[in-house]
Amino acid sequence: MREGRASETARRVAAQRLTFPRPCIPGGRPGDDDRLQADVAAGLEPGVTPLTNYLRARTAWVDGVLLGALEEGIDQVVLAGAGYDGRGLRYARAGVRFFELDHPETQADKLGRLARLGIDTSGVGFAAVDFLTGDLPAALAGVDHDPGRPTLSICEGVAEYLPVEVLGSLLGGLSAACPRGSRLAVTLALVPVTGAGRASRARLRAVVASMGEDLTSEIPREDLAGFLARSGWVAETAVDPAGRDLTRSDGNSAFVLARSGL
Ligand SMILES: C[S@@+](CC[C@H](N)C(=O)[O-])C[C@H]1O[C@@H](n2cnc3c(N)ncnc32)[C@H](O)[C@@H]1O
Repeated sequence: MREGRASETARRVAAQRLTFPRPCIPGGRPGDDDRLQADVAAGLEPGVTPLTNYLRARTAWVDGVLLGALEEGIDQVVLAGAGYDGRGLRYARAGVRFFELDHPETQADKLGRLARLGIDTSGVGFAAVDFLTGDLPAALAGVDHDPGRPTLSICEGVAEYLPVEVLGSLLGGLSAACPRGSRLAVTLALVPVTGAGRASRARLRAVVASMGEDLTSEIPREDLAGFLARSGWVAETAVDPAGRDLTRSDGNSAFVLARSGL
């Protein structure tokens, strides 16, 4: 990320997400989320870009995993690299606590917007942490995450911005901070395996670089399960943005659901 600046890619995601249909749940506050997203997106004209379909599919997949976990009784949700994600508002539910982890610059910008908009964030704990240097279990403990209660951890659109060893530590830290029965939903960039895939990744890398951010990690699809296992997670399902099992896809992206392997 550009020194001293909140994430620009997170702003762009917020602007796109504002245009997507989302589920509603009793007690949820979609209006508060929309107000935050509109504030973040002010001045941006999202339009339909090559990324729009990907982001729509990613948003729907994460929403589905989260709502499924809430139905199953999970009452702790960690959003790692939360950016301007407003799920802690949109899907607020009595007894459920959300924990947002993000780079100090992005989080400070988000907290400033939430305060200015007068949005109630009492169901959300915010911990500023740089995944490159920070202590993830300590950050979670500092916002009263209970390491004894099963947790859903969501890493949406952040893995590709971290060096692979930092990503491994992040996932390992989440596994260490969460007990058996916990789940992980992570979206990942895969090493492209086709010419079209390599060209698409190069275009995306250039767009992101123009915003001062770097796409750094790509996971080889054949090592996906191994990579997760080394970070303490057992992969359960891995699909591409169209919902196809990865074994039947040569796409560049994976949406992976895993359970705690500890
Ligand atoms: C593309 S945004 C995605 C945000 C959000 N998950 C979403 O889908 O809307 C990537 C996020 O990763 C965060 N991030 C990038 N590098 C980070 C780091 N070293 N430590 C903590 N957060 C980081 C950025 O601040 C940003 O919020």
